[in-house]
Amino acid sequence: MKFFVDTADIDAIRELNDLGMVDGVTTNPSLIKKSGRDILEVTKEICDLVSGPVSAEVVATEADAMIAEGRRLAEIAENIAVKVPLTWDGLKACKTLSDEGRMVNVTLCFSANQALLAAKAGATFISPFIGRLDDLNIDGMELIADIREIYDNYGFETQILAASIRTANHMSDAAKIGADVATAPPAVIKAMANHVLTDKGLAQFVKDAADAGIKIV
Ligand code: E4P
Repeated sequence: MKFFVDTADIDAIRELNDLGMVDGVTTNPSLIKKSGRDILEVTKEICDLVSGPVSAEVVATEADAMIAEGRRLAEIAENIAVKVPLTWDGLKACKTLSDEGRMVNVTLCFSANQALLAAKAGATFISPFIGRLDDLNIDGMELIADIREIYDNYGFETQILAASIRTANHMSDAAKIGADVATAPPAVIKAMANHVLTDKGLAQFVKDAADAGIKIV
């Protein structure tokens, strides 16, 4: 499973990228707002840092305007994936932009039918939002499994990009189901390294090493 990092924080992206943990980046208007940066400027900086797909989201809601914004965003760098919402207008924009050879990430997906439409419209990525469904007591992971089954039934090439990931368990659950990509905030990716038994075991090893006077260099 590929890891995308869900942030517009350059330092956080750099830290994970240096460790080989970043196969791509996703942003959205809320993350751009949080960064306090200009969208074109910060997106360019991310694209210079990361070679994989960098999702940049349109803000228009009408198809023609989304297409114009998508073309402008795609000028930033070759690795831009234009992000459009899963509305009827968004699907029209997806079809046009993907026919032009651009990567398109269709976002705000909350149902298998929406994912089926995005694949038909030529989406490169479909972004089902796990956490926002879980918030409503609806099993977000079940949606990932349903989309996996449907796409596999018909050989759709649209990649399932599990989004709105809130916990480390979401990452392993998405990987077990076979999501192609998961995008998560930096803190969630780092939390995947945590285990209480690792901390406990290490504390004992550190103590025993000190007691025994073990020195290596
Ligand atoms: C990524 O593409 C999405 O915009 C993001 O994962 C949404 O996450 P949230 O539901 O935590 O805002």
